[in-house]
Amino acid sequence: MLKLIATAAIAAVLAAGPALADDGPIVIKFSHVVADDTPKGKGALLFKKLVDERLAGKVKVEVYPNSTLYGDADEMKALLENKVQLLAPSLSKFEPYTKQLQVFDLPFLFDDLEAVKRFMKRDKSRELLRSMGKHGIQGLAFWNNGMKQLSANRPLHLPADARGLNFRIQPSSVLEAQFAAVGAKSQKMAFAETFKALQTGVVQGTENPWSNISSQKFDTVQPFITESDHGTLNYMLISNSKFWASIPYQTRVELDAIIDEVTFAVNKEAEALNRKSREQVIAAGHAKVIPLTEQERTAWRQVMEPIWQKYEADIGPDVLRAARIVNRR
Ligand code: LMR
Repeated sequence: MLKLIATAAIAAVLAAGPALADDGPIVIKFSHVVADDTPKGKGALLFKKLVDERLAGKVKVEVYPNSTLYGDADEMKALLENKVQLLAPSLSKFEPYTKQLQVFDLPFLFDDLEAVKRFMKRDKSRELLRSMGKHGIQGLAFWNNGMKQLSANRPLHLPADARGLNFRIQPSSVLEAQFAAVGAKSQKMAFAETFKALQTGVVQGTENPWSNISSQKFDTVQPFITESDHGTLNYMLISNSKFWASIPYQTRVELDAIIDEVTFAVNKEAEALNRKSREQVIAAGHAKVIPLTEQERTAWRQVMEPIWQKYEADIGPDVLRAARIVNRR
């Protein structure tokens, strides 16, 4: 019996993973798919810096940007297997785990990033951080990037201009429906493969905030970028629930405080960073930037907005209602 208990105890310690090792610091591998000079990239580096300063010897953070350790295809599996301990995937990538986060993909739901921020402060949003608990995924914070812009190999002024084009999208059925609404095709594709697919013409258009357009040089392979602000790109900082719970309490409290500080910094600077990236794209002069008139933007809104209804039941009418009231209109 005693032997059995001892074996079970050893098994429990092994299952808890690296957090319980006493022969060195807890190692947190933070893997992501974007460049360092983006809201998420900077957030990851700031997290590492603050942990180095405040938890030296106890916790060691390793940051792997640009899909160098894991990419879109395998990062969630790696997190669930505790091969990596922190990720911040776009909210469009969680469909297999919860449908509720689809709210963030609905086109023209949020007027601007300020509205998104107001939504993230509401109780309903805080609840969404726990929406993947049963899959062993611990939501820690929401991080922002920015409003998405449409890019293509032809100028997009009105929805009809997009007809027949194939757009690279993140793996989200809402985004698929968004492009179907304008008569376009779409292809789900890992972020790391997007540049090549645009360059070779496998897809002819895509959507992303300025910081990703600029840092991935999408503007060098997309001659036209429409300032549509039609949707938003945001992230959830997540960990493996078991791993997170295995961190000694006091250390976890300190990590939570660091995460709060980093989240504040990321969300404060995201807009400025996207503005700077927009200016860089314009200055580089590869792509023509197309502003939309109020009328043109309304035309996009009118064809895309009807898809909200299709997703309301999956998202939850309460979540959708909480999101709809954050605009100042
Ligand atoms: C994308 O795949 O377009 C984005 O989710 C990349 C990112 O993480 O910003």
